[in-house]
Amino acid sequence: MSGDRDRLKRAAALYALEEIEEGMVVGLGTGSTARFLIEGLGARVAQGLKIRAIPTSKATALLARRCGIPLAGFEEERRIDLTIDGADEVERRSLDLIKGRGGALLREKIVAAASARLVIVVDDGKLVDRLGERTPVPVEVAEFGWQATALALERLGSVARLRRCDGGDPYVTDGGNLILDCDFGAIKDPAALEREIALTVGAFESGLFVGRASAVVSASEEGIEVLERDPRRRR
Ligand code: A5P
Repeated sequence: MSGDRDRLKRAAALYALEEIEEGMVVGLGTGSTARFLIEGLGARVAQGLKIRAIPTSKATALLARRCGIPLAGFEEERRIDLTIDGADEVERRSLDLIKGRGGALLREKIVAAASARLVIVVDDGKLVDRLGERTPVPVEVAEFGWQATALALERLGSVARLRRCDGGDPYVTDGGNLILDCDFGAIKDPAALEREIALTVGAFESGLFVGRASAVVSASEEGIEVLERDPRRRR
């Protein structure tokens, strides 16, 4: 079953890989789907493709280096031509997203916001009618006073749980922060919720990505489906 999912993730990632062109600055996502993209991009770089990439996590930077992909930072590149990343849920109608199960949501959102185009690669199991149906919304929060921040997020209508590692210690992000996984159930108004979370003291960023995806490449047993965002739909 997970082998089948991996096959679909790989198919979506390799389809999106074709969008990367010579000379581009590319944002590299984090997670198991992005891994296939990075490996595929490494192969194209080995064949002579010249690009520079900005990674969204330490894990992605490590893998990209191993694959021979030249990395850059925001010191050198302020604007990214194309970012390709995974997601945990995609709302089929709007292409709004929940991201951050891999813990990289803050850097992923910074990279997404700096990108001219954001392409999301998923297997079709990630497509939903309403965000929050299956996945809690991860929120990256300051370690100091996280219990108070959790209470504030619960007042917005969630059940907030501190993310822990397998051994039981709190999960710590690349930025040294904690993650609260906030279960809101099916979310009626993701844009309003994203704004409310952003106003919560102690919360740095949420895994709600509203109006950011330019396109979603979804792989199923039937083949590839590309969903392009309606340009008239505003954030
Ligand atoms: C990383 O923080 C996440 O946003 C991932 O992009 C997301 O969880 C998708 O991961 P998979 O590709 O592993 O399902």
